[in-house]
This record gives sequence, structure tokens and C-alpha cells, in this order.
Amino acid sequence: MWSFVLVASAGVALAVTNPKTPQMGWSTWNTFQYNVTQSLVESTAEAFETRGFAKAGYNYLLIDDGWQTETRAADGHQQADPTKFPDGIAALADTVHKKGLKLGIYSDAGIYDCGFYPGSLGYEELDAAQYAAWGIDYLKYDNCGGFEGNTRPPAERFLAMSYALEATGRDIFYALCEWGNQFPWFWADQFSDSYRMSGDIHASYASDGSGVCTTAYCLNTGYAGVSVLTMIRKMRELSGFQKPGAWADMDMMEIGNNAMTTLEEQTHFSFWAALKSPLIIGANVVTMNQSSVDILTNTDIIAVSQDALGTAVSYLPGLSTEDAVQVWGGPLSSGKQRFVVLALNYGNATTDISIPLASVTGLSAALGKNAYTVKEVWSNKAVSVSKSNTIALTGVAVGQTKVLVFSEK
Ligand SMILES: *[C@@H]1O[C@H](CO)[C@@H](O)[C@H](O)[C@H]1NC(C)=O
Ligand SMILES: *[C@@H]1O[C@H](CO)[C@@H](O)[C@H](O)[C@H]1NC(C)=O
Ligand SMILES: *[C@@H]1O[C@H](CO)[C@@H](O)[C@H](O)[C@H]1NC(C)=O
Repeated sequence: MWSFVLVASAGVALAVTNPKTPQMGWSTWNTFQYNVTQSLVESTAEAFETRGFAKAGYNYLLIDDGWQTETRAADGHQQADPTKFPDGIAALADTVHKKGLKLGIYSDAGIYDCGFYPGSLGYEELDAAQYAAWGIDYLKYDNCGGFEGNTRPPAERFLAMSYALEATGRDIFYALCEWGNQFPWFWADQFSDSYRMSGDIHASYASDGSGVCTTAYCLNTGYAGVSVLTMIRKMRELSGFQKPGAWADMDMMEIGNNAMTTLEEQTHFSFWAALKSPLIIGANVVTMNQSSVDILTNTDIIAVSQDALGTAVSYLPGLSTEDAVQVWGGPLSSGKQRFVVLALNYGNATTDISIPLASVTGLSAALGKNAYTVKEVWSNKAVSVSKSNTIALTGVAVGQTKVLVFSEK
């Protein structure tokens, strides 16, 4: 769970362990919105096994908004819609747990949630206890339902649910979704496991909805509609905040939603992994094309995401050209892996990208004097370094990201 140390009134310190690597799973929202059902979760759990997602490390099945009835029960409890979940949430949690997977649910730090179902403001303890009793493993906690709810700052409303989850004694992953309001990278690490750093993504590689702004510190207005490239752009300010136990969440992925080319989907996945975003699939995994399954289950990219160091890549302005090429790099420390470099062509024409390794911040320190090899992950081919210590990537296509992993020999 999260990283702070609770000090009980008796003075007993209770340390809570961190999730060491970004969480991996699937959520209903991007594709199904309010149409969430027991059978959808069950068929997804099946596909997690048959299509290789579970083996690749995806383990959370997350029910987003739409699972509830419109009002609380007479005794105040939130209740699952009996048409959508005929056997109830506890039975579904059992089914999911028997497959070695985990179940997540959704609520909101306002009076209402985003779909006008009952939010948890003022009901934090009752709701957290209900989730624990059902066997829930993960809570996504949203920020809709204004009224007096939004006269209290997010940090305060989101902290209340953190205490309530902690009080249940069950290990429930706590995923904040307050869209980057009031800069959660400065405070959310105190009491959550991950926090959304922006308004919502939408299924587009490069085109943004109206009201979207491109930096982390400029907040979106209205419903966001952030493209993949803009979400990556916002991370220039935030990648340095990434650390185990407090992951900035770039939102659910749009891979497999028929909105991008294969190269664009590879770029999307490469950056979510190297920037240490949670990897939450937002597509229909039962019907998804095999090319998208292959991207989402690429073991080399997942190894970058789940690397033991938990440090995100940083933008390297000296090697990048605005609106044409961006190069990012950062250290790794799992097995023999020591460093990763991403080189993206986001211009209009096929291009060559030259990377003088002396200019890659942190690379020589990460490699030390050890001999090393370099592999480009998507082509699964070794890459050579010239005598002048430069890597020349030729013919990088529009939308393509080359991912270079440096490993000790
Ligand atoms: C949800 O179900 C309704 C009713 O079948 C349908 O009209 C709507 O398009 C569905 N929405 C999504 C996002 O699947
Ligand atoms: C799957 O691939 C086919 C053929 O390339 C394409 O027409 C279809 O739109 C794709 N489906 C999705 C969900 O991406
Ligand atoms: C890409 O094309 C657009 C539209 O033609 C143009 O405005 C832009 O300057 C081009 N970008 C680059 C990097 O060439």
C-alpha cells in the first residue's frame, strides 16, 4: 500500500509497504463507459488467461463508474446494480481471485460521482468497509460531484478516504483521480499509491479536445480529451517526480481501440512504460486485434515499466527538436539492464536520428566501465555504437519510437 508511516495515538509506528512497480491491469471506462457488467469482467478475466495478459503481468480488473444503483440502500450502503451484477460484487471478487487476479472498484470524493451515482463524501468509512467486506483490492477515487464537496480542497477529501481504507485493515490499492488539480505530485505521495496527473485521455494519437493545454502546470478546462502526444508532453515537467509507491498516472491506455496505427500504438506503450505510468488497458481485450495484444504483452517493454529502480525517463532537450524528434533517457537496474533511451519521430517525414551517447544525461554513469550491448526492442535487433560513440537510427518512420535498452554484457 502507500508510503507514509501511521503513528497511532499510543505512539506505535505502523509502516505500510510500497507497491514497488507501476500497477498493471484493465479498466472498463475507455471502451464500455457505464455499461459495466459481471459478465464483462468474467469474460475479461478469461481473456487475461487465454490471450497472455495475466502471464505478462496484468493482474487488476477495474470496474469503473456505472456499477452502482442510483441511490444508496436504506441503511446507507452503496449497492451494486442487480441487473448488471446479478451475483453481487463479493461473488465476482471470488471468481476473480480464484484466477489469481484482483478486483478494483470506483467511487468519488464528492456527493455524486461523474455519472451522478452516490459519491463517498461523508461516507468514506462506510464505503471503505463495504469494499473490504466484498474483497475489493483497488479503489479508483474520482473528483466529480461538486456542490459543497469542491469547497474543500482535493487533498483533504482524498485524505479522508485514505484513512478509511487504512482502517479496514485490507490491502486496497488507492488510485487518485483528481485530474492533476492542485498539483498532486507535491502531496499525493503522502497517502496514495498513484495519482492522475491530468484530465482524461481520449482515443487519439495527436489531436486534442478543446480546452486541453499542453504542460503539467496548465490545467485543462472541462472534459479533457488529451491525446497521447500531449500526455507525453505534460510528463516533461513530471517525470522527475516518479518514484516507487507514488506513480503519476497518465490514464488508461487507448491501445487496441482502433484509433492508432501499429507504430503509434508502440509509441503509446513505450512512453507509458518508460515514464512509469500505471499500465491500465482501456480496450476490449476479448476482441482486440492480435497486433495490439502483441504490443501490450511485449516483455522487453514491460521489463522497462517494471524495472526495480522505478525511475522514469527524462526529456533530453539537447537531443530533441520541437515538433520533429524527441529523445528521452533514464536508468534501469533489473538484471543486466542499465539504461533505456526512447527516440520518437513526431514530425511529418521519415527521418534519421543521431544520438551521441556522451550527450545522454546519466548514461555513462549508469554503464560505468562495463562492456555493454544495445538492443532496439520493437525490431528485437542489436544496435551498433560507432567509434565516435554515436548511435545512428536511420529511417525512423512518422509516429515511430525506437526503444534502445543498454545491458551489461
Ligand atoms: C451502452 O449500452 C447502451 C445500450 O445498449 C448503448 O446504446 C451504448 O452505446 C453503450 N455505450 C457504450 C460506450 O458501449
Ligand atoms: C483490427 O484490424 C482490422 C484490419 O487491420 C481493422 O479493420 C480493425 O479496425 C481493427 N480493429 C481494432 C479494434 O483495432
Ligand atoms: C508538419 O506539417 C504541418 C502541416 O503541413 C506544418 O505546419 C508543420 O510545420 C510541419 N512540421 C514539420 C516539423 O515539418
